Amino acid sequence: MKEQEQNFWQELKKRNQSILALAPMAGFTDIAFRQICSAYGADVVYSEMASATALFYNQENDDNETLRLLRWDRTKESRYLVQLFGSNPEHFALAARLICEKIKPNGLDINFGCPVGKVLKQGAGADLMKNLKQTRLVIESVLENSQVPVSVKIRAKAGDVSALEFVKNISDLPVSALMIHGRSLNQGFVGEVDFGLVKTIRPYFKGPVLINGGIVDLKSAQSALNLSGADGLGLARGALARPWLFQEIKEGREIIYNRGAISRLLYRHALSLVELKGESALLEWRKQACWYVQGLEGASQWRGRLVQVSTLTQLENILKDYGLND
Ligand SMILES: Cc1cc2nc3c(=O)[nH]c(=O)nc-3n(C[C@H](O)[C@H](O)[C@H](O)COP(=O)(O)O)c2cc1C
Repeated sequence: MKEQEQNFWQELKKRNQSILALAPMAGFTDIAFRQICSAYGADVVYSEMASATALFYNQENDDNETLRLLRWDRTKESRYLVQLFGSNPEHFALAARLICEKIKPNGLDINFGCPVGKVLKQGAGADLMKNLKQTRLVIESVLENSQVPVSVKIRAKAGDVSALEFVKNISDLPVSALMIHGRSLNQGFVGEVDFGLVKTIRPYFKGPVLINGGIVDLKSAQSALNLSGADGLGLARGALARPWLFQEIKEGREIIYNRGAISRLLYRHALSLVELKGESALLEWRKQACWYVQGLEGASQWRGRLVQVSTLTQLENILKDYGLND
């Protein structure tokens, strides 16, 4: 196993503060959103999941789509983790080497939780979590081919395999951190989160444990930390609606974002995407814009107009119409 870069997870764990991570979200945790969450205080930001198999088959092409999506800006992002999914240890080995060499993230993460049909069909994501033997081979393969800390993201349960069994099975491996989505594969993305399980796995895992699921505001964040005793939190849909949630949790106070502040954030996000990827990126931004206006007065009207935005000028005009262009 190659010597790993100084382990930032241990440094984060030593601080007298919970670790706050932007959890991976395909279609959302791109470079622009990661920068926004970093600015609000996220300690760690995860990429969208990237296919180890796609990287394996496109290894000769330095400018392939997957690598392009994983680029980052170390001056504007907190510790950056690239998350890989797949099922073949050989693909993971190559992907880990390629990512370390070309992307140079702070860490690598392995996805054992994705419930999406096309991922499960490949024996990847949460389907891989069901197979303890294969799980171990995949983790060993990434550890052997990575110079940066390796973490894993799992579910409370997948098939017959619980988070506890999963962790016991790898407790001798130098995995640096663990994020647990406290819902089972059967639950998908809804329903109660099992916060209690962090305590049961604690004796078998030395690194930081982050709990994830259903954290949408300061109150749910504090309650998740108290109930679980976790070292930190993974914020997903809660951060889509209010990326300032990182700051709220850090400062332990609620921050009210009024319409003006939200519209400035909308604009900042759109501008950053356009600067990074060109105006066509506004098509992807539309779905994110809809999360920001959730719960605001007239949200459905806003949404109706925001989903049609294809230029910054159109967005400026919408904000002007709402008197929000200050
Ligand atoms: C749109 C979307 C995309 C997601 N993509 C990923 C992904 O790429 N990798 C992953 O491990 N989890 C992914 N997740 C799961 C989240 O990281 C998180 O575990 C889940 O949403 C539960 O947290 P929440 O209740 O706070 O949203 C995704 C979730 C959503 C809603």
